[in-house]
Amino acid sequence: MGSVNNKARPFSAQHYQQPLCGRRHQIGGLLLVATTVFLTKLLDRSSLPCSFTVDPIATSRSSVHVTNGGELLWPHRGYGPVVDLKIYVYDEHEIDGLKALMYGRDGAIDSRSCLKGQWGTQVKIHRLLQESRFRTRRKEEADLFFVPTYTKCVRMLGGLNDKEINQTYVKVFSQMPYFRRSGGRDHIFVFPSGAGAHLFRSWAKFINRSIILTPEGDRTDKKDTSAFNTWKDIIIPGNVDDGMTTNSATLVHPLPLSKRKYLANYLGRAQGKAGRLKLIELSKKFPDKLECPELKFSGPDKLGRIDYFEHLRNAKFCLAPRGESSWTLRFYEAFFVECVPVLLSDEVELPFQNVVDYTQISIKWPSTRIGPELLQYLESIPDESIDRMISRGRQVRCLWAYASESASCSAMHAILWELQRKVRLFHQSTETFWLHDGSIVNRNLVKFSDWRPPMPLP
Ligand SMILES: *[C@@H]1O[C@H](CO)[C@@H](O)[C@H](O)[C@H]1NC(C)=O
Ligand SMILES: *[C@@H]1O[C@H](CO)[C@@H](O)[C@H](O)[C@H]1NC(C)=O
Repeated sequence: MGSVNNKARPFSAQHYQQPLCGRRHQIGGLLLVATTVFLTKLLDRSSLPCSFTVDPIATSRSSVHVTNGGELLWPHRGYGPVVDLKIYVYDEHEIDGLKALMYGRDGAIDSRSCLKGQWGTQVKIHRLLQESRFRTRRKEEADLFFVPTYTKCVRMLGGLNDKEINQTYVKVFSQMPYFRRSGGRDHIFVFPSGAGAHLFRSWAKFINRSIILTPEGDRTDKKDTSAFNTWKDIIIPGNVDDGMTTNSATLVHPLPLSKRKYLANYLGRAQGKAGRLKLIELSKKFPDKLECPELKFSGPDKLGRIDYFEHLRNAKFCLAPRGESSWTLRFYEAFFVECVPVLLSDEVELPFQNVVDYTQISIKWPSTRIGPELLQYLESIPDESIDRMISRGRQVRCLWAYASESASCSAMHAILWELQRKVRLFHQSTETFWLHDGSIVNRNLVKFSDWRPPMPLP
């Protein structure tokens, strides 16, 4: 994905108003490009009306956009040629209430304990953005604003209850003129768990226009509405144990296919979920094909990290059934022990769908057909096909690792690309107005530069 640099600003107004390259020319260009695909040698690219360079790999419908050099490419269309963003990261001292959302009401929650586990993304993404070369210290020039909160962790560790979380979010927004100006449209939030933005009870009133980063596309089982919106939000990968994602110090290495004891496994608790219960039942009938041990995730016999991954790598297929919600960390973990993930979660949403073709690296099987039929199907897949899926998975798994920005491919790079796609030139809200001289005012015709907190909220 090497083409991440800071030269051009592809999403500026000038870019969209290139007078020499009107829409008709572009359509013409597209047609010509389409033609070149079929008549490669007959058409000279340089004769195109606009300088319209097309990367054949990025535009082909190949599995994942990986060049021969192993680089992952984002399609130019919609994303631009380079990541070029300015993100303002709110400071915890700047807004009264942010600290409570990060460390609890007494400030006692240690964010280091929030870094681990499947929900660590709420902290990790904040830290990565703080160090990012796309961070700006000037709100006036920011394309996007990041609001750091560690509410999933804070709530789990008893630092705030649901009512306090709700009230504190609202208090925080009332101090942000930029949030007010756009109705939250250019503000980014991370909600790292299955509950998604529902962690904040009044999300629908206050941040239903903001950009939400979440591993979860669905929360319709417990709440009747999903907070995820395919248009404005971004699905992010769950946080896989660093010990597995860091190339230099991998905890557990994959086994050759021939050495694997099981056809498939499911390692997790049943939690009373239909699909998981069916798998456990199935493993009792076919114990030499499907491993479904009763694993302890707490107490003295708690399964250690290494044991867990050693179990996981011992099958060709790693089953990832739906749990409390549709996303499942096992899907991402599978890529690091190199088993083929089999999604048994009908509503699942997967990250970076403009870049990754999931049919090439995983299987999604109807959760209503969990039974002997599934095992027969998996058994019928030849090892060569499994190997092919695994090696393609190896090429893209860097997208699930929250590595530092210096890595050539990481979850954060991918998220930055996706964020770039959300950048708008202009922001509006029902309580924002503009005048002939370009000034932004509120309902009382007060100029934006004079807006003072607390800001009236919807
Ligand atoms: C959340 O807090 C705001 C502000 O205090 C309040 O108006 C709203 O009713 C609260 N939402 C819920 C669901 O309690
Ligand atoms: C989003 O918020 C606006 C304004 O606060 C509200 O009118 C609208 O109904 C909300 N939409 C949803 C889907 O909750």
